[in-house]
Amino acid sequence: MMDNLLPEVAAARKSEYGIDPIFLNRWSTRAFSSKAVKDEDLYGVLEAAHWAPSGSNEQPWRFIIAKTPEQRETFLQFISPFNQEWCKEAPVLLLLLSRKVNEAGKASPSHALDAGTAWGYLALEATRRGLSTHAMGGFDRAAAQSALQVPEEYEPQIVIALGYRGDENQLSERNRSREIPNTRKPLSEIVFEGRFPQP
Ligand SMILES: Cc1cc2nc3c(=O)[nH]c(=O)nc-3n(C[C@H](O)[C@H](O)[C@H](O)COP(=O)(O)O)c2cc1C
Repeated sequence: MMDNLLPEVAAARKSEYGIDPIFLNRWSTRAFSSKAVKDEDLYGVLEAAHWAPSGSNEQPWRFIIAKTPEQRETFLQFISPFNQEWCKEAPVLLLLLSRKVNEAGKASPSHALDAGTAWGYLALEATRRGLSTHAMGGFDRAAAQSALQVPEEYEPQIVIALGYRGDENQLSERNRSREIPNTRKPLSEIVFEGRFPQP
């Protein structure tokens, strides 16, 4: 099961139980190559995302694609400088939005959760296709909403950088030192049987 790990992942990540390598191989790179992403792959990852489950199958996720120089420039205007610094090389940027109201016009209790599930699906399908992804919460939501003419009932969730992994030497020294898969808390710290552990 643990065969087929990417070399940098095999050195850094170990799962306690046997799981498909795709879960470990997905990690958030910052070094992106300028190699274009084919529409077949771009729409393939979005296809995977939209097969995510959602409350009442409302499918509250929406995606705005930036792939032309003009579209990417518009996105870079609302992305925080600390993210801009590396994500400007990524050939595709995506804004993930979620619809805050359901079909009946009531507040949706699960729009953000559902959008998060779709992001997870997208990231795994990208990994399967040899692509890298990196989610960013660091962007100006109001500016994104206005620049992309997003109606008020949609909430910007994350910007996603999508592309092929690039040369880490293009990164700033600080980001180069972070260009390594991270790890996770032990399961025992986050999984409880029966009830929440008492202090
Ligand atoms: C909702 C969300 C917001 C994030 N925001 C940022 C961000 O603004 N900048 C950044 O460099 N990484 C961001 N990340 C990436 C996380 O730091 C990263 O997913 C986490 O450290 C786990 O690492 P991994 O994705 O490589 O497994 C974000 C991830 C998520 C899911």
